[in-house]
Amino acid sequence: MQTTFLMVKPDGVQRGLVGEVISRVEERGLRITALKMLTVDQKMAEEHYAEHEGKDFYQGLIEYITSGPVVAMAVKGEDAISGVRDMVGETDPKEASPGTIRGDYAMDIGRNIVHAADSPESAERELDIFFADPDYQEYDRIEEDWVYE
Ligand code: RTP
Ligand code: MG
Repeated sequence: MQTTFLMVKPDGVQRGLVGEVISRVEERGLRITALKMLTVDQKMAEEHYAEHEGKDFYQGLIEYITSGPVVAMAVKGEDAISGVRDMVGETDPKEASPGTIRGDYAMDIGRNIVHAADSPESAERELDIFFADPDYQEYDRIEEDWVYE
């Protein structure tokens, strides 16, 4: 079992794709264990995207992610980290396969709808930026009896 960090970025919220993203996660059989809408401030944005500091797209990326509300989620399931990355698709939506979120809903690398953690280390680090212990809910899903036994 892994928990990953998934976020609908400001363009996803503004285009009304929050429900679509959540539906895909739920229908896949993954569990949302924390969920909140917030506006990412400058400090959170710099912490979240620290790995990209100094790159030519960094300033635009920070402006984009702080430009409006996002929906942040903790998503739990077997191999959830790579599984959710696969559902999100390639960074550049023009290269993302149809059937992925980016491949179905975006065309612009600078407006690619969602963010998902890319490794166990990133997932832990990013979840800690957005959520604290009381934000998480533990529960079973009805199909887990047959999925996991
Ligand atoms: P994310 O972190 O948002 O899930 O995206 P990712 O792992 O697929 O891509 P990453 O390399 O981490 O880049 C973070 C975000 O920066 C923007 N970007 N723009 N060449 C460019 O103009 C460029 N490269 C990256 C994208 O919005 C990407 O999601
Ligand atoms: Mg990334």
